[in-house]
Amino acid sequence: MSIWETNVYAKGRQLNRYPYDTVVSDVFRWSSGRDRSQLRVLEVGSGSGNNLWFLAREGFQCAGIDISETAVECAKKYLAGDNLEADIQVGDIVDLPWERGSFDLVIDRIAITHNTQSEIERMHDEVVRVLRPGGEFVSVMLAWDHPAHRTGVELSHHAFNHFSDPVFSEAGLTFFADREDIYHLFEKSFDRFECKKIVNLSEEDQVMNAMWHVHAWLQ
Ligand SMILES: C[S@@+](CC[C@H](N)C(=O)[O-])C[C@H]1O[C@@H](n2cnc3c(N)ncnc32)[C@H](O)[C@@H]1O
Repeated sequence: MSIWETNVYAKGRQLNRYPYDTVVSDVFRWSSGRDRSQLRVLEVGSGSGNNLWFLAREGFQCAGIDISETAVECAKKYLAGDNLEADIQVGDIVDLPWERGSFDLVIDRIAITHNTQSEIERMHDEVVRVLRPGGEFVSVMLAWDHPAHRTGVELSHHAFNHFSDPVFSEAGLTFFADREDIYHLFEKSFDRFECKKIVNLSEEDQVMNAMWHVHAWLQ
């Protein structure tokens, strides 16, 4: 059973209701001027359905997958409570239960980064498989500059676990990507990508958190 099930969702934690700002701005920018009812969006690692709720409310055809049964149950209930529809399934991102070319956009907000590099490579192959030609992928991954990895134990290349940081110890395995990792992962699977690193500093210029925002395209 996944640590997300036992440590997080089964304990009633991280049951977020509202979408993240990056998801809202990415989706509005991507869909501007297009007929939303014809656009299919998949969120991988969709958690309690907060981003899916936003997507369904805004009129997209949407789908989600998460490894935690409790998270998927909560997401289904949350959307149904507002008469919203989405195809939400329990499963692993390494093996997506949708046909080739099913989606126009795939969203990953800090889900794929909770896996090892070799798993991430397989997940990217799956994302490419389920995207239509011309499809897009938006992924937020934790960056090497994030101080939390210094509180954990490195199990494989840049993948850490056993954190003393309480937030990270709850979520378990986390991959912190440096620039080389990002180029290695995205050049391999996508025709084009753009990335930016977002770093939040304290008043004293200490790094509080750091993440990559990657936008990738298929031809
Ligand atoms: C930090 S939470 C983010 C949830 C949601 N994307 C959000 O933005 O609120 C990471 C999510 O990814 C899911 N996850 C991590 N690895 C997964 C995998 N291999 N397959 C499916 N879900 C996974 C976890 O269960 C968790 O719900």
